[in-house]
Amino acid sequence: MAEAGRTRLASALIANGSLSSDWLSTYHAVPRHWFVPDLIWPGQGDGVRQGDAVNRHADPVTWWNAVYTDAPLTTQWDDGDHTGDGRGTVPTSSNSMPTMVFSMLGALDVADGDRALEIGTGTGWNAALLSHRLGAGSVATVEVDEASAAEARFRLARAGYAPQLVVGDGSKGFAAGAPFDRVIATCSVRRVPYAWVEQARPGGVIVAPWAPEYGGEAVVRLTVGEDGTASGRFVGSSAFMRLRQQRTSRPGSLEYLSDPWPADGARSSTSLSPEDVGGWLAMFAIGVQVPEAFPLVERYADGTYTLWLHDTAVTSWATVEWEPDRTAYEVVQSGRRRLWDEVAAAWHWWDSRGRPGFDRFGLTITPGGQMVWLDSPDNPVPQS
Ligand SMILES: C[S@@+](CC[C@H](N)C(=O)[O-])C[C@H]1O[C@@H](n2cnc3c(N)ncnc32)[C@H](O)[C@@H]1O
Repeated sequence: MAEAGRTRLASALIANGSLSSDWLSTYHAVPRHWFVPDLIWPGQGDGVRQGDAVNRHADPVTWWNAVYTDAPLTTQWDDGDHTGDGRGTVPTSSNSMPTMVFSMLGALDVADGDRALEIGTGTGWNAALLSHRLGAGSVATVEVDEASAAEARFRLARAGYAPQLVVGDGSKGFAAGAPFDRVIATCSVRRVPYAWVEQARPGGVIVAPWAPEYGGEAVVRLTVGEDGTASGRFVGSSAFMRLRQQRTSRPGSLEYLSDPWPADGARSSTSLSPEDVGGWLAMFAIGVQVPEAFPLVERYADGTYTLWLHDTAVTSWATVEWEPDRTAYEVVQSGRRRLWDEVAAAWHWWDSRGRPGFDRFGLTITPGGQMVWLDSPDNPVPQS
């Protein structure tokens, strides 16, 4: 069963372009099932939602099928506070989707002799793949969660690999092992920690999933310059778990209202449909322009919904009502920020440039901060 599944998944990854020929022997030498725990919650549909728990002992056929399906496998909820077979609140560790694993390794573009740092050991699969390719002595991997790290260490040893496994906050990198030729993060960031730039050699490459607060996410591939900056383009859509230290709390809508909705909100209407601003790429394009704000969708039994917008400072909110067959949608806004106006302006900016894809956006990291650009670093994306 394992052999047929492995071959089938390899074919799918080769066909979608993520598994390149230079990683094929590593794929076969480091089987995914060595790094998948007995209890998993496989990703469903687009991979972002978690299905029911699958237990290897109770249902081995489903477990093997899940392992050799191109989907992420959640392995931990709520930083390990959640136990049992149910779903927890926030998924916090996983064995990543194979397409993402191999497309990110492809983007990392390693060469023999390279030294690599991974942030987010998780189950240890990616660290094992890197160890097979580069030699475990050339690989360091950092995991913040002690229990995940201990399990990964056990699985890596069982597979015959002993990369340097550090338990700690990967946003600090791993200074003792620097300089690295390659840095890869398998948890997403809002800001690329400058330590990763400092710990990579000039000409080195950093590959990391990057997401604005608003939503939308893509993998960025940065090349480190001689001048202490790092810059490069986004290479494709992604959906990773957030680096623990960069999570933000997202208060519920009720915390924004002094009185029952619409409280003191100012009413208006818009011809821009909430449907248009809800796609992953549109959210990314909006998110890079509208800082410290996030959407929340409240759905009703009749299929209509309210799009809520909030700011992280808990000063402002907006609602937009979506109903089918409308050309105008009711808007209510309150607070010092007019969040729907900001989102609509950001969407029009993106639309008027031909709705650029992830690959037309880029990111530059300096000691003082970061800047998102469109097409070239001298064309910064405006912020509201
Ligand atoms: C998607 S999983 C990583 C998948 C992993 N590379 C694999 O091959 O199984 C993300 C991991 O990042 C870890 N993580 C989150 N914040 C971190 C941090 N600050 N430093 C190191 N690891 C972190 C999580 O605990 C989680 O295990």
